[in-house]
Amino acid sequence: MREVKICTVFTEYQNHELPATDTNLVARAQEAARNAYAPYSQFYVGAALLLDDGRVVTGNNQENAAYPSGLCAERVALFAAGAQGGSQEIAAIAIAAYNASGFTPKPVSPCGACRQVLLEYEKRQQKPIRIILSGAGNSYIAPSAVSLMPLYFDSSFL
Ligand code: THU
Repeated sequence: MREVKICTVFTEYQNHELPATDTNLVARAQEAARNAYAPYSQFYVGAALLLDDGRVVTGNNQENAAYPSGLCAERVALFAAGAQGGSQEIAAIAIAAYNASGFTPKPVSPCGACRQVLLEYEKRQQKPIRIILSGAGNSYIAPSAVSLMPLYFDSSFL
């Protein structure tokens, strides 16, 4: 028997320390959050993908009276980018969320299903996606979707 350590590391930035490209992408995620359709949770999430050609694709959570029919902001953005043919690689994703108290004090963390989808897109393009989790005052940054889910399931198991 042996212990196996499977670790992940993020870098915490105060928001004023972020590189300008990250700040801009966070602003796009915040803007997208404002257009979320979240009448049930009133938790408004935005995701912004920076593509390699400089374009930004955004998504936000889309809820439904039949709750499981809704979709998270991250998957709305990723599937929108994928629907364009997926020829442009995704360089980075920024995620931001707010509720009645404002933008989340903690950097918002994507759900398991969104992590799985993000990882699939990263594997597909064979190039890491920079992860920017934004909070009201600070952000967590990691160089790859693997950082969100180190012990991931992918097609190599099939
Ligand atoms: N949600 C997202 O859009 N992304 C996340 O990372 C976490 C949760 C949405 C789903 C639902 O519409 C609302 O937030 C409350 O869970």
